[in-house]
Amino acid sequence: MTPAADGSGAPPLRGLVLAGGAGSRLRPITHTSAKQLVPVANKPILFYGLEQLASAGITDVGIVVGDTRADIEAAVGDGSSFGLEVTYLPQSAPLGLAHAVLTAATWLGGDDFVMFLGDNLVEGGVAPLVERFRANRPAAQLLLKRVPDPRRFGVVEMDGAGRVRRLVEKPAEPRSDLALVGVYLFTSAVVDAARRIQPSTRGELEITDAIQRLVDDGLEVRAHELSGWWLDTGKKDDLLGANRAVLGGLAGRVEGMVDASSRLVGEVVVEAGAQVCRSTIQGPAILGPGARVVDSHVGPNISVAARGRVERSRVADSVLLEDVTVRDVVRLESSLLGREASVQGRAGHPGVHRLLLSDHSTVELADD
Ligand code: TTP
Repeated sequence: MTPAADGSGAPPLRGLVLAGGAGSRLRPITHTSAKQLVPVANKPILFYGLEQLASAGITDVGIVVGDTRADIEAAVGDGSSFGLEVTYLPQSAPLGLAHAVLTAATWLGGDDFVMFLGDNLVEGGVAPLVERFRANRPAAQLLLKRVPDPRRFGVVEMDGAGRVRRLVEKPAEPRSDLALVGVYLFTSAVVDAARRIQPSTRGELEITDAIQRLVDDGLEVRAHELSGWWLDTGKKDDLLGANRAVLGGLAGRVEGMVDASSRLVGEVVVEAGAQVCRSTIQGPAILGPGARVVDSHVGPNISVAARGRVERSRVADSVLLEDVTVRDVVRLESSLLGREASVQGRAGHPGVHRLLLSDHSTVELADD
């Protein structure tokens, strides 16, 4: 173990961010982009976690990467823009969260670490969690959130004394509604535990199994409920939920152009070079650089990335990536549109839909 870099005497703590994986639930967006780089309020999801690690005083960060390594590296670089020193840790295949820990074992060098899932967003940051971990230094400190459908998550059962008793990954019949949030604090005991587990029925080395090992070994595993929101952005509706949550904290700012016949209602960000003409923008909403909204009603809960075009349309509760066009659309909602996607109404052709969709696209059509 290397000595603490901050001179505090506390054992050193590294950040391990998981940004590999398959991203199959967010196809087709993930055919062309890493899911951790999909923007929420026009900023890649991954950046929120990196910023939270930096503001918890963590500087040494390893990012586990897979097939999308080049994209992640192009976006994050050496980490200096976040105040971090980033090391990339290529994972041979997405073989599970515990496999990602084993991939990082040499780099971790026996130090304690915060593991952060690169597609998760957690309100309140990691600083309070780090403080709590440092006070007790258990083998593992978990964060929990009550969820309506625990079958989609790693689920934790506690005993009456507030200790973790059992962890199960995506149980068919959950025995609690406490889901594991994607921020964990560990000592190196978890690396040893990950070496002693077998792949699950879905063929992955599960972090829940490694943590169960720690419990079975009699080591201390603590868990606390998160009071703020937690969003796992793995699927479209979760991503839109994350977008709503982050936009909910937005402070309005206009650096672009809004003409005299347009109206901004609530918190609206209009970035430099963006234009709003004869339109209403209902906040919270963000229009990226060079975006253009004309004769439209946009928002609430909408993020339009750079150079998006919305003309003669109504769009709400959606995330539009760079260079999207929406034109002559009566009403578009709850949509995630990838880069350069185009949605166009065709006046004079009621009931006819013409589509050019990429693999794994999804379209929900209204009755007309
Ligand atoms: P998941 O969302 O559980 O897995 P996934 O990315 O394979 O997605 P899907 O189920 O849609 O195919 O992963 C959580 C985070 O951890 C995510 O940021 C990807 C990352 N990850 C790795 O880095 N390595 C892995 O082996 C796995 C399974 C995930």
